[in-house]
Amino acid sequence: MAKNRKVMFIFGTRPEAIKFAPLILKMQKTDGLDVIVCVTGQHREMLYQVLELFNIEPDFDLSVMKTSQTLAEITIAIIKKIEPVLLNVKPDLILVHGDTTTSFTASLSAFYNQIQVGHVEAGLRTGSKFSPFPEEMNRKLTAHLADIHFAPTETSKQNLLDEGINKGKIFVTGNTVIDSLLTVLDLINDNEQLKAKIIETLREVPLSKQILLVTGHRRENFGEGLQQICNALKNLAQKFDKLHIVYPVHLNPKVKGPVTKLLAETPNIYLINPLDYLSFVYLMSKSKIILTDSGGIQEEAPTLGKPILLTRETTERPEAVITGTAKIVGTDAKTIFDEVSKLMLDKKYYDQMSLKINPYGDGHSSELIIKIIKEKMV
Ligand code: UD1
Ligand code: UDP
Repeated sequence: MAKNRKVMFIFGTRPEAIKFAPLILKMQKTDGLDVIVCVTGQHREMLYQVLELFNIEPDFDLSVMKTSQTLAEITIAIIKKIEPVLLNVKPDLILVHGDTTTSFTASLSAFYNQIQVGHVEAGLRTGSKFSPFPEEMNRKLTAHLADIHFAPTETSKQNLLDEGINKGKIFVTGNTVIDSLLTVLDLINDNEQLKAKIIETLREVPLSKQILLVTGHRRENFGEGLQQICNALKNLAQKFDKLHIVYPVHLNPKVKGPVTKLLAETPNIYLINPLDYLSFVYLMSKSKIILTDSGGIQEEAPTLGKPILLTRETTERPEAVITGTAKIVGTDAKTIFDEVSKLMLDKKYYDQMSLKINPYGDGHSSELIIKIIKEKMV
């Protein structure tokens, strides 16, 4: 009988865990492939929130997270700690995701050890080196280290082709985030007890009111950008007394510090801790508008039919912007205020932005990725 091939997942942050979870769970049940899970621990609390939800127990945890560490510190820590794991396990393939420093450093270490690299969520580009920072460069570098590329859309495939990546190595698979999202929505809808538990978790949140859901963590928005966003939120809370602003604040001290200082005492603004994925999906489904700089939320909002305003200057996910359900608004306080106000006051405009579309996947991306890996490896 042929020997099983070893596939090692390497990831470290909340969104990577959410997007890898369905793939890990399905691959664990696939004949011919042995799954090994290595987390770098670039995130700690926010990563384990996801691992616990999906019952994934890492085989290795490099525990690299330190409060407020620099990009160089994360890079050095991962490179140093991952090599012994690669040498010990000797995987036939590692899988990395997207654009984090974990993805780039794990790919580089695999390359140094002549181990094949599969890149999931490959080919997203803004074309702007510093936006998002450092993600645009992380994903470009990862692409050139990878041996097989799972692009979520035709646009991302084209981006890879434009950079000279071999056509035969690129597969359009959709994004596994939609697999996760649909699984979680089914879980919530089928289980009243679970729904009650989520509602209990969200007891501080006025779920029956009109909610503007806010998240933010991009490095290029630190400082002035974040301050402008907070000013806009204060003004919106003052203008619309029916609007309730719910903001699960990212644990990065460069986000949590200023946001707490600027908004903690504002009526109708609810600053809460990062939510577990089930509760966050439920909250998204109950929100009226989403204001965010997040990558993953840009992919989820269209499936839920929620208008999304992007506090960024560029996006690597143009599909929803082109369809008109997402809009880039940047970080200028007045622009954010005007755009949210328009959605609050103009019903026709609101309805146009609330279309349910699925440009990023149909919920079967994990199956497709596994089929391709099996064909290529087993
Ligand atoms: C990272 C990724 C980013 C991804 C984001 C998802 C890089 C460079 N950045 O950004 O691409 O979009 O995750 O959220 O790879 N912290 C905690 N507990 C946690 C997580 C973070 O305390 O569970 C704090 C720590 O002080 C940590 C800081 O947040 O040093 C920043 O974390 P880091 O991974 O460097 O950056 P993120 O902004 O989270
Ligand atoms: N998310 C979550 N809890 C929260 C905020 C976000 O589970 O309190 C989920 C969200 O649904 C999405 C992912 O985390 O799937 C996005 O993570 P983040 O914005 O940190 O990273 P990005 O996608 O920008 O890389």
